[in-house]
Amino acid sequence: MTEHWTPASWRAKPAKHLPTDYPDAAALAGVEQTLRGMPPLVFAGEARRLKTLLGEVADGRAFLLQGGDCAESFKEFHADNIRDTFRLILQMAVVLTFAGGKPVVKVGRMAGQFAKPRSSPVETIDGVELPSYRGDIINGMDFDAASRIPDPARLLQAYSQSASTLNLLRAFAGGGYADLYNIHRWTLGFVNDSPQGARYHELSEKISEALTFMAAIGVTPESQPDLHRVEFFTAHEALLLGFEEAMTRVDSTSGDWYDTSAHLLWIGERTRQLDGAHVEYFRGIKNPIGVKVGPTVEPDELLRLIDVLNPKNEAGRLTLYGRFGSDKIEARLPRLMEATKRSGRSVVWAIDPMHGNTLTATNGYKTRPFDRILAEVKSFVEIAKAQGVHPGGVHLEMTGQNVTECLGGARALTEGDLADRYHTHCDPRLNGEQALELAFLVAEKLKEDRVDAALRAAV
Ligand code: TRP
Ligand code: MN
Repeated sequence: MTEHWTPASWRAKPAKHLPTDYPDAAALAGVEQTLRGMPPLVFAGEARRLKTLLGEVADGRAFLLQGGDCAESFKEFHADNIRDTFRLILQMAVVLTFAGGKPVVKVGRMAGQFAKPRSSPVETIDGVELPSYRGDIINGMDFDAASRIPDPARLLQAYSQSASTLNLLRAFAGGGYADLYNIHRWTLGFVNDSPQGARYHELSEKISEALTFMAAIGVTPESQPDLHRVEFFTAHEALLLGFEEAMTRVDSTSGDWYDTSAHLLWIGERTRQLDGAHVEYFRGIKNPIGVKVGPTVEPDELLRLIDVLNPKNEAGRLTLYGRFGSDKIEARLPRLMEATKRSGRSVVWAIDPMHGNTLTATNGYKTRPFDRILAEVKSFVEIAKAQGVHPGGVHLEMTGQNVTECLGGARALTEGDLADRYHTHCDPRLNGEQALELAFLVAEKLKEDRVDAALRAAV
């Protein structure tokens, strides 16, 4: 692992979940060359800023909120979708900041989340077998042979969609939309008349009152520009390494390599082999990075992975996203947290309560029961507390759209409801109402923590 690293050195390592069936290798190489000449989507300085903020999370002074589609798609690309997910993140951030009394680091699983690892390379419907859909950056979702052929032109379309998405996100974050004085305006129509909507309304009243008080004593958006904007970052699973390699650039300030396709990149549960291509690529980029940690990881394996990915033990460099399943987390997570803590490895521990809780409904829909998602988050916070580790954040698949993909929640969605608005291009997502409900639950847990800490300080 101490071998020389280049943005292309991953090519000599065994790679999982990368498409090998492009009909025209020269066309793919041509597109990658074109991408090398395209402007970076993010700057190294921004990635370093996120790393600093995640360092605050690692040290227990902040909380990470990361969310967005399982897979973005070319078809669902629309300003309204981007706005709805963005404002849902703002609403959740308000809830979490208020309860936890700590800043919330806001990261969208957006503007580049296109490539998907699949459990099977083929899909069979009514006796017809075709290559699996691998995400819009690789092939098409329609179940016909032509759609499933990997097409290099899709890399350029994904780049272009990411650039437009990021442009809009930057405008939302800095151009006034995210102003705290707009707190009442972020409510999504369909959430408004739900119990979560009422709770949010109550909270935003309190915050508005506090803002009025602060304005009276001279704290205004003019004196405090942070009231008026948020720092917002993007992230995706860097699965399609050819694309990521083409977006990797030397930062002129530091001379270091950065993947300029997003601020934060993570390695999936299925591609985190120590000797594999993905770990090789990730060890050389200086962005803050993440790894999904599932139920089969053993403590010594995790420590070896941490050594390769964060050899200098820098705070904020590495986020571990546990994804065990509500029925496995109690058996698996404590030993892993214990190992990172005992060995003094600085990491952010976050929870992905989505991927370990997926099942197939009796009517064939891939879904996730909301109560299992909540249960895994609860267990996560409790285990972290018992281990003396900061429960640093949540990573969610969610959308501001009023979809019916996960079971349960305040409206008690049933299997029969799934067919109504099941729009995901991959895994089932929380809708706005369910995501807000989850934020309130996490908020309660964070508040308990804050009250406990205050009590400890008082005695
Ligand atoms: N900039 C601050 C922050 O991000 C305050 C803030 C402004 C804010 N708009 C917000 C917080 C929207 C949450 C949601 O924390
Ligand atoms: Mn997913």
